[in-house]
Amino acid sequence: MKHLLKMLDLSREEIIDILNLADQLKYENKNGIEHHLLKGKTLGMIFQKSSTRTRVSFETGMYQLGGQALFLSNRDLQIGRGEPVQDTARVLSRYIDCIMIRTFAQKEVEDLANYGSIPVINGLTDFCHPCQVLADLMTIREFKGRFDGLKMCYIGDGNNMANSLIVGGLKVGMEVSVACPEGYRPDPQVLEFAAQYGDKFFMTDVPIEAAKDADVLFTDVWTSMGEEAETEKRKLAFKGYQINDEIMAAAKEDAMVQHCLPAHREEEITEKVFEAHADEIFEEAENRLHAQKAVMVKVMSGKDE
Ligand code: CP
Ligand code: NVA
Repeated sequence: MKHLLKMLDLSREEIIDILNLADQLKYENKNGIEHHLLKGKTLGMIFQKSSTRTRVSFETGMYQLGGQALFLSNRDLQIGRGEPVQDTARVLSRYIDCIMIRTFAQKEVEDLANYGSIPVINGLTDFCHPCQVLADLMTIREFKGRFDGLKMCYIGDGNNMANSLIVGGLKVGMEVSVACPEGYRPDPQVLEFAAQYGDKFFMTDVPIEAAKDADVLFTDVWTSMGEEAETEKRKLAFKGYQINDEIMAAAKEDAMVQHCLPAHREEEITEKVFEAHADEIFEEAENRLHAQKAVMVKVMSGKDE
């Protein structure tokens, strides 16, 4: 694996390999076993959008692996003043060992990978959020012990999270159902991918239909980063697209709830459901650290090329 640009690029085997390594690194981390697998390596982290989890988990993860991480904000880099990403890629490739980037356009991430000569990890774009979904899959397997026979449901905006969850969920063998309002459906490229899976993929605009017999329920904010000007319009469009008691009653009795965070209580999820499933949600947040360490080891150690 050279880069992590989107879930569509990964095979089922590559996903399972990352999750297995993530489980091992988590076990070692919990038991105080040091694993300096990236000693002397440097990760550059370019942020063109805000972040709590992604920034802190990558920076801490790199430290735990024996390397260092540089926080490169858009406000400080020349990229923010118009230096082309193609040039940034070629320059950074001469100093550091890997780039993690959070930005708007997926093309920018793909360009960084194409022009640079070092691995690139996508830390979220408008199109997808692969690091989050690897942590989500890790958490599902941790709580449920398997993927086969599970039904995953996503309710809300057909955004970066929906796009990555659909692809990741189907690739590892889960059934996937999605409820999105008209006009806010997942990306056509993702829907084309999902169509290959026949009746293992189901899309509706009725949340309760999607939630029926689900083992895992996901949602995400109604207004993503960069869409703030549409907040009021979106509040109307997504009314009713909420994980609440009624949705939980339609799902399996032991259904788990996941949220990538940050969460907006009483919008996409009620306070009551959120707090009832807080253990699963914060384990999911923790697993960002372990899953990303596995990704960094895979792309930087060059073992899998
Ligand atoms: N879930 C997630 O990516 O969180 P941050 O925006 O805080 O990084
Ligand atoms: N869809 C959200 C995810 C945040 C982690 C956003 O893009 O803002």
